[in-house]
Amino acid sequence: MPKPTSKPSAASRKRPSVRALRGTVFVTRQVHFNAAHRLHNPTKSARWNAEKYGLCNNPRWHGHNYVLEVTVAGEPDPETGYLFDLGELKHLLEERIVKPCDHRNLNEEVPFLRDVIPSTENLVIAFWQELEPRIPRGRLHSIKLYETPRNYAEYRGPNPAL
Ligand code: NI
Repeated sequence: MPKPTSKPSAASRKRPSVRALRGTVFVTRQVHFNAAHRLHNPTKSARWNAEKYGLCNNPRWHGHNYVLEVTVAGEPDPETGYLFDLGELKHLLEERIVKPCDHRNLNEEVPFLRDVIPSTENLVIAFWQELEPRIPRGRLHSIKLYETPRNYAEYRGPNPAL
């Protein structure tokens, strides 16, 4: 048996290093907001709107507890092991989506939704357009918006990979 030694071993004297792992990772952040809306096409008649949208056309509005999931894809930064700082994405979502939409009327109070029928489908496209140019690292992969726990719409950009 070799005697225990207090000298550092060859391995521990080696310069510290990190091994960067390559691969595309999908990182998701979830946020919540509550908002009122009305599904209504002002270019159509009251009757057309009532037939198309039913209760969702209520002129006195109705609300949803929205859940938004934003997924960014990319390779981890070799220095941090992160795709990006999740705090940065959290801040971006708060500033661009939650603050303008939370406790608001989506038809009337959100500048980037002006003249848009605020269906879940249209909302995911509008949110994409707000967020995509501002993603700090990687690329925006998908936006999912739950209007109820059972109904959601997903958008993967204008040219989604099939
Ligand atoms: Ni609704």
